[in-house]
Amino acid sequence: MPRKRELHDRFFKQAKTEGYAARSAFKLKEIQERHRLIKRGDRVLDLGCAPGSWLQVCTELVGSEGRVVGIDLLRTRVPPMTNVNVIEGDIYATDPITLRNLAYPEFSGEPPQFDVVISDMAPNTSGHGDHFLSVRLCRRILELLPSLLRSSGVTTMKVFEGEEFPDFVKECRAAFGSVWIFKPKASRDVSRETYIVAKGYGRSRR
Ligand SMILES: C[S@@+](CC[C@H](N)C(=O)[O-])C[C@H]1O[C@@H](n2cnc3c(N)ncnc32)[C@H](O)[C@@H]1O
Repeated sequence: MPRKRELHDRFFKQAKTEGYAARSAFKLKEIQERHRLIKRGDRVLDLGCAPGSWLQVCTELVGSEGRVVGIDLLRTRVPPMTNVNVIEGDIYATDPITLRNLAYPEFSGEPPQFDVVISDMAPNTSGHGDHFLSVRLCRRILELLPSLLRSSGVTTMKVFEGEEFPDFVKECRAAFGSVWIFKPKASRDVSRETYIVAKGYGRSRR
């Protein structure tokens, strides 16, 4: 069984070899392998998309009939992809309709919501209050979901574990039919990051 550090190095090298912008690509691949969140033809919103490895994975998964929209405070570092649109922006200051318009350029009226919303957003880690800032970002996602995610839609979001984590999981369970907590092998051993995976938006039985 390889040690965590060796695994980290392995994912880093593998990302370089396979042309991914970051080894985070393998976290989404593991989530996808386990939970099958993204299907061909889906409209996917990638929150915190820079440098761009999740965009690269998503474009492969949705195929030419799907579309991927990304937003980040920072610029991405991947070559343009035909079915991907990226904007630089802050999710605290972005109108969901702007993002939906990018997903459905063919619509003249109000565009539908996304099938899938994924978030790998992370605050600038300082070692102080990272968990609270991470939960704040995730709560912002929950607040935006009514205008971003279609009924029965699916999500995954990164969150740093800490004292608010159990309450946040309850908030997710109140919004989705099924919720899982998933720690990919490609996550660093020292990191408190984990991923919430949720399906059946608006289908909570609570
Ligand atoms: C770990 S990186 C994402 C890596 C990306 N999934 C990939 O595979 O290339 C986290 C990103 O979250 C972004 N971020 C943090 N706060 C944000 C906010 N308020 N609005 C938009 N993006 C944000 C950061 O700028 C950073 O690029």
